[in-house]
Amino acid sequence: MSGKLADLSVALWRGGADGAYRTYSVPRHESQTVLDVVTFVQRHLDATLSYRFACRVGVGGSCAMTVNGKPRWTCRTHVAKVADGGRLEIGPLANLPVIKDLATDMAEFFAKWQKAKASFAPSRTRHDPIAPIRPDTPARRAADAAIECINCGICYSACDTVRWNPDYLGPAALTRAWTLLNDERDSGNVARLQAVAGSGGCHACHSHQSCQELCPQALNPTAAIAGLKRRTAAAYLKGEI
Ligand code: SF4
Ligand code: SF4
Ligand code: FES
Repeated sequence: MSGKLADLSVALWRGGADGAYRTYSVPRHESQTVLDVVTFVQRHLDATLSYRFACRVGVGGSCAMTVNGKPRWTCRTHVAKVADGGRLEIGPLANLPVIKDLATDMAEFFAKWQKAKASFAPSRTRHDPIAPIRPDTPARRAADAAIECINCGICYSACDTVRWNPDYLGPAALTRAWTLLNDERDSGNVARLQAVAGSGGCHACHSHQSCQELCPQALNPTAAIAGLKRRTAAAYLKGEI
């Protein structure tokens, strides 16, 4: 590509839930990311713009925003891939309260991880020898399949069931619960199965797969939730929960 590229027309959400989009003109560059665009506005056009990011390399998961209608990790999303005729509309993640501008409140997203018992419950103390875990067992493979979740909230923002049912634990928390359910070192499975079997749990998922389509780590929450459905049904039939 040669010559100067036409400027981008960038509409950014400003304010809280009752805010509105405001449009900025941003110089276009090759290999520019959506996060580069937001950063340009904050540094050169309006220092009051609020947004969140950390690593800029797709590890921390904090930079997710709604870009031209879809939730995306902005540090790894190239403008060339998503700009529609040189236009970008960038808003806060859906299904989460807006704090200000592009920053959402993630408290309820992480509270649901706690509700799903999606945190490790150790079966040994620090004084015990380390448990030998074979990497090739079916359980370990199931656990490893979703271990790379970066907690970005993109699946949660994309999920229609979260939108309709505020009690729904959501794809990220349920995927982590599935990972731990398959972790042989963990001892919290009865409480976890009870937690994910309730009305806001895995059985509320309608398998739409929006979570799977948009997960930047190419994880498959739909499959993890299907696993939880099978395991909770089996536990119920056996009288374990
Ligand atoms: S598959 Fe389930 S968790 Fe994923 S987006 Fe659809 S309803 Fe939500
Ligand atoms: S499952 Fe994927 S989209 Fe959902 S929080 Fe984890 S990395 Fe993000
Ligand atoms: S800034 Fe860390 S994942 Fe995007």
